[in-house]
Amino acid sequence: MTKAFMKKRAIWMLLLATVLGGASCRIFKPGIAAYPIGLSFPVVEDASMSFKGRIISPVRERGGAYFYSTENGFVRCVDGLEKQVIWTFEANSGLRTAPFLGREKIYVYDKADVLYCLDPQGKLSWKKAVGEKVLTPVVEDSGRIYFGTDQGILWSLDLRGESPRRFKAGAAIHGGPMVLDSGIIFGSDDGKLFLIDPQGQALGGFRAPGRIIGPLASDGKIVFFSTETRDFFGLSLKRLKPKWKVRLGGYVQIDPVLKGERLFLLSTNSVIYCLKKTSGDVLWWQNIPSRTAYELAVIEDKVVVSTLSSNLLAFDVVTGRKIGEYKMAQDLKANALWIDPFLILAHHDSQTDDGRFVYLRKDVQALLSVQKASPQPAGDEIPFIASAIGFFKPNYEFYLKTGEKREVIQKASEKNTWTWYADAEGSYSVGVNVTDEKQSREIEIPYVIDKRPEIIAESPLMKGKDTRTWYADADGSYSEGVNVTDEKQSREIEIPFVIEKRPEKIAESPLMKGKAAMTREETLELVRKHLKNRNLIKHCLAVEACMKAVASRLGQDPEPWGMAGLVHDLDYEVTEKSPELHTTETVKILNELGIDPLIVHAVQAHAGKVPCGNAMDWAIFSIDPLTGLIIAATLMHPTKKLRAIDLEFVKRRYKEKSFAKGARRDEIEQCVNIGLSLDEFIAICIQAMQGIDQNLGLA
Ligand SMILES: [Fe+2]
Ligand SMILES: [Fe+2]
Repeated sequence: MTKAFMKKRAIWMLLLATVLGGASCRIFKPGIAAYPIGLSFPVVEDASMSFKGRIISPVRERGGAYFYSTENGFVRCVDGLEKQVIWTFEANSGLRTAPFLGREKIYVYDKADVLYCLDPQGKLSWKKAVGEKVLTPVVEDSGRIYFGTDQGILWSLDLRGESPRRFKAGAAIHGGPMVLDSGIIFGSDDGKLFLIDPQGQALGGFRAPGRIIGPLASDGKIVFFSTETRDFFGLSLKRLKPKWKVRLGGYVQIDPVLKGERLFLLSTNSVIYCLKKTSGDVLWWQNIPSRTAYELAVIEDKVVVSTLSSNLLAFDVVTGRKIGEYKMAQDLKANALWIDPFLILAHHDSQTDDGRFVYLRKDVQALLSVQKASPQPAGDEIPFIASAIGFFKPNYEFYLKTGEKREVIQKASEKNTWTWYADAEGSYSVGVNVTDEKQSREIEIPYVIDKRPEIIAESPLMKGKDTRTWYADADGSYSEGVNVTDEKQSREIEIPFVIEKRPEKIAESPLMKGKAAMTREETLELVRKHLKNRNLIKHCLAVEACMKAVASRLGQDPEPWGMAGLVHDLDYEVTEKSPELHTTETVKILNELGIDPLIVHAVQAHAGKVPCGNAMDWAIFSIDPLTGLIIAATLMHPTKKLRAIDLEFVKRRYKEKSFAKGARRDEIEQCVNIGLSLDEFIAICIQAMQGIDQNLGLA
């Protein structure tokens, strides 16, 4: 192999590795979203705890307890979850700082620059008048403490407050101190950063372009700090030279927070920055809509900003996207503190001097709504919709309660809707149990089902009217008479009438008993004569089949019902352009043929030309749109076969509002007027159409 070839091969292998590496990243990275841990939004107030005095931010946490001090001179330690004060320490005068938690002791100083050292039980170990204004936190390490003053002195004391050492800087010390492996590092107002050893020997330094502002941070390799020139530095600790610096819109006066490779900064221009700690690249930044001065809280994948107003905001640490907020009733007075599962905020009312810790927890709620208010009649369709707040991939189990009895009516699944076809009157509760891996909530709606509406009786044609149609059944000589009466008088009159033998044809297959009528074949012939569109003929056949099936279910004679269905759109093609005329031509044709007025009425009723007055009318009114929906649903099925679909399949389509919009659901639902539930009604029609699937071309 030549060198050139080997080089080429190496490059090629590298490329391949990159490609494969990239590919595997794409395959494996998205993964399955894990159950969120830590803080989740939305949050609600769960509890609160009162105290007196103005709190001094920040509140600090250790081991599930939190520590805070108040301007009126108290330091307290509170059991975070029990919400109980573990101890209280009272200083001689008002305090100026929050407590600093050392490894062994707790430190705080007052307005008279007296430094107090407390043991972990809150008892005073010692106190010392420093005589200078302490400007920095008190930092404890390896049996000594360190702090800086306005006189430019970095103090070091042992844990008894004795054997002082003083290192003199050129100006007041605001930056640090921080104790690292390589020494103690701090910054002064003349822009100098110092590295000294515990004995106070200078190990090195760095001159910044301006005053070193506030707190320092370090990961052990880089030290991070802000200057009054609005520069933010990442300084190599080893070489004490900048690895990078960025110009921000303001200074960073509160502790920078390191989390993995990210560095979070809150600057005085109300911007939160996320920098890459090794390069200073700005990964993202966000404007904070109000001023801020409290420490950031990084809780798992969220960075939480507590503002000087009543707003709390949370951002995704990776993308910077705002992923939660909370608005307190009053202004916030400290940082937000996380003690799982609570986010604890502080407030203080300066009028009354009352302070309050507000405990927020994740809002977890199951919600249930119903689209029709209770009560509804039996047989009605009542849709319920559930939703969930604060759940991760929730499942919904619907149940029905009757008295003490509780019955699951829809097993737990992702489906959050359930439609109730209530059969029997009574008092119920419809409930949903929402669950995910770790939590559950239930909610119920009490619901009353009234009596099923009466099936609208076939109106007797001529009761109380002044005409009567005689459907003479048998041949013979008759007299048809009328007795006319009113309150005070009466008269009778008779007409003799001879009925001849029934013609053969009618006897064979009478559509309408005792009436001159057409056979089914003749009716179909009539339809074919008037309608050329094959789909329209199929539609008529479908309506016919459904009408017959529904008639049978209701104990009615299927023949006239079927005929009404078959002829209902007879004039469709001639009235297509003037829908207002739809059925007028049909009525003429049917009347000429002497078709039963009930059938004619049903034909008119299907198109809303006359109000529905009986079961046949309501049936054709609801069936007409339903057949269209069933055919459309069948065409959606991969097999395009009527026999492949069932009620569930059609119901799914039915619920999609945009699906086959022309098949008006409100019309279909009029099946309630013939005493059928929507489900039963649809099921009957599916079955009826399946019976003629060959004729419908959907076999
Ligand atoms: Fe029609
Ligand atoms: Fe129709």
